[in-house]
Amino acid sequence: SNMINVDLSYSYEGRRILPEVNDAFIKMYNDAKKEGINLFVVSAYRSYSYQEKLYNNYITMYGIDYANTVSAKPGFSEHQTGFALDVSRLDIGLTEYFENTYEFEYLINNAHKYGFILRYPKGKENITGYSYEPWHFRFVGKEIATFIYNNNLTLEEYIYQYVELN
Ligand code: DAL
Ligand code: ZN
Repeated sequence: SNMINVDLSYSYEGRRILPEVNDAFIKMYNDAKKEGINLFVVSAYRSYSYQEKLYNNYITMYGIDYANTVSAKPGFSEHQTGFALDVSRLDIGLTEYFENTYEFEYLINNAHKYGFILRYPKGKENITGYSYEPWHFRFVGKEIATFIYNNNLTLEEYIYQYVELN
């Protein structure tokens, strides 16, 4: 209920996100724009029922094994927390080709400064459990994002190695 609307000048209609994530994204968006980089929010907060629809569509189209590598089960997607954004360029969308753009280059070099991490990196599929997603960024705050970036970690590795769980 505390999600707010993502600005329509760089997103599709109906995208919502947590206020603190929105603030961080706006800063990053504006700084990127000054360098001629045009970021676009394709997907943001998702309800349980929307994630369920997406997941079931993948199963119908490609089967359950493939579905589980590209989509979280309903109840398990970061998108349901309001901390995740799928960011690309309007003309490219959520395809692996995005990694060949200046927009992607900007994000992988700078997103951590605004508190975002590339959540499902290439080569870490066995750790994250998901296929490479050059567009999926997760807000964890500047400090943790910078630590994760500097040490080339995934969120899983960060949690297992550095967070004391009670
Ligand atoms: N595509 C990511 C893993 C999700 O469904 O949350
Ligand atoms: Zn995503």
